[in-house]
Amino acid sequence: MVHKKMDIRPAQGKLGIMLVGLGAVSTTFIAGVELIRKGLAKPIGSQAWMGTARLGKRTDKRFVKLNELVSLATPEDIAVAAWDIFPDNAYEAALKAGVLNTGDLGKVADELRAVKPLPGAFDKNYVKKLDGTHVKTGNRQQMADDLRRDIRDFKKTVDRVVMVWAASTEVYREPGPAHASVRAFESALAEDDPSIAPSQLYAYAAIKEGVPFANGAPNLTVDTDALVALSKQEKVPISGKDFKTGQTLMKTIVAPGLKNRLLGVNGWFSTNILGNRDGEVLDDPESFKSKEVSKAGVLDTIFQIETYPELYENLYHKIRINYYPPRGDAKEGWDNIDIFGWLGYPMQIKINFLCRDSILAAPIVLDLALFSDLALRAGMSGIQEWLSFFYKSPQTAKGLYAEHDLNIQKTKFKNTLRHMAGEDLITHLGLDYYETD
Ligand SMILES: NC(=O)c1ccc[n+]([C@@H]2O[C@H](COP(=O)([O-])OP(=O)(O)OC[C@H]3O[C@@H](n4cnc5c(N)ncnc54)[C@H](O)[C@@H]3O)[C@@H](O)[C@H]2O)c1
Repeated sequence: MVHKKMDIRPAQGKLGIMLVGLGAVSTTFIAGVELIRKGLAKPIGSQAWMGTARLGKRTDKRFVKLNELVSLATPEDIAVAAWDIFPDNAYEAALKAGVLNTGDLGKVADELRAVKPLPGAFDKNYVKKLDGTHVKTGNRQQMADDLRRDIRDFKKTVDRVVMVWAASTEVYREPGPAHASVRAFESALAEDDPSIAPSQLYAYAAIKEGVPFANGAPNLTVDTDALVALSKQEKVPISGKDFKTGQTLMKTIVAPGLKNRLLGVNGWFSTNILGNRDGEVLDDPESFKSKEVSKAGVLDTIFQIETYPELYENLYHKIRINYYPPRGDAKEGWDNIDIFGWLGYPMQIKINFLCRDSILAAPIVLDLALFSDLALRAGMSGIQEWLSFFYKSPQTAKGLYAEHDLNIQKTKFKNTLRHMAGEDLITHLGLDYYETD
C-alpha cells in the first residue's frame, strides 16, 4: 500500500542556521560546510547529504539519496549566525578549539572571520566554570526579547531559520513550577525567575518566532511541559537532547548487538579524558550531573532490564569524565564490559576509542538543522521523536520510554522520511518474496 505523500513546502531559498555557542562543535560544523561548499571536502557522516534509503521491494533495487526522497537545503543554501558569551569570531574560536588544523581553517578563514557572535544570554549559575564577557544585559524577559530581535534581524537576510543549541552544558535541574505550563513560564519570565535557564530563553525565543529548536546538550531546555506545549501551540518542531557522539554512540552500537544475542552484562565501566572547554565545563559536578543522567539511561532501555532480569538485573554501569587539558579535543574513551554467555561463563570486551568529538558532532548539527527545517515545512510540530537517531537522550512524549537502539532509531528515521514522501514503509518482513501461486 502506498501512503499519501505529505504536503511539504520545498526547501527553496536560504536556510539560516542560528547556533547557540560558537565553540568546538559549531566552528567545526561551519568550517565543514564552507569546505564542502567549495568542493574541498565531502559531507562524511551526514545523513542529509550522504544518506540513502531503499524504496519499494528488494527486487526493485531502488536506492535514492535522502535529499532526493525529500527536499532539503543544499550547501549553497546555508547561512550561519551565532551567539556566544565570548566575542571571538568563528576563525579565532576554531583556532582556540584546536579541532581542525590550520591548513583546513586557512582555506575558509574569510568565511569564518565573517561569523561574529551576537552577545549571549547568560547566567553564571548555570555554567559555573565560565565568566562570559560578551553577554546581554537586563532581566530574563529583556534577554528573551533581545533574542527574538536577533532572530527577526537574521530572518531579514534569509528565507527560513532553525536554531541549534551547541553551547556549554548547563547544570542539572529538574523541572519546577515555572516549567509546568506556558502561562507559568511566561509569568516566571516576567518575574526574572532564576529557575528559567538561559537555554530556555533561547528555546522560548525560537519557538515564539516560529523557528525549530534542536538541543545538542543534555540540559533540560525544551524537555519541559511549558515549552513542549508552546511548541505545539506555535506549530514549531523541537527535539533533544545531547548530540549522540563518542562513547555513547559506541554504546548504542555495541549494546544492541549483545542484547540481540542474549548475552548477559553485569558491568560496564566507561571513562574518558578530554581537555577542551566542554571538558572544563563538565569538570563542574553540577554540569557533569546533566551529562551523566543523559548518558546513563541508554543501557537500561537497550537491555530491557525488566524483561531480561537474568541477563541484566545486576548491571553495574559507571561513567567517568576526566578533564585533562593536554588532550584538547582529542578525547580518549575506555570501556570495560563484563559480559557472560552460555552457562554463565564470563567474558570481557575492552573498547579504546580515540575519537574526535566535534568531528562526530558536526554532521549531527547539520542533520538536525536540515531535518528540523524539513519538519517545519511538512507542518510537523512539537517533539520530533523520529530525530532520536541523533541524540544520546531522546526527548519523547510523556509516559513513553525513549528508544536508544541505534538500529531501531535509524529504521524509524528513514521510515518517517518514506512516510513523508508517500513511499511504503520497510518492515523487513519479506515473506512475500517466498509466496508461490
Ligand atoms: N563535542 C561533542 O561531540 C558533543 C557531543 C554531545 C554534546 N555536546 C555538547 O555540545 C555543547 C558544545 O560542545 P563544544 O565541544 O562545542 O563546547 P565548547 O565549550 O567548545 O563550546 C561551547 C560554547 O558555548 C558558549 N556558551 C556557553 N554558554 C552560552 C550561552 N548561554 N549563550 C551562548 N553561548 C554560550 C561558550 O562560550 C563556548 O564557546 C556542549 O554542551 C557539549 O556538552 C558536544
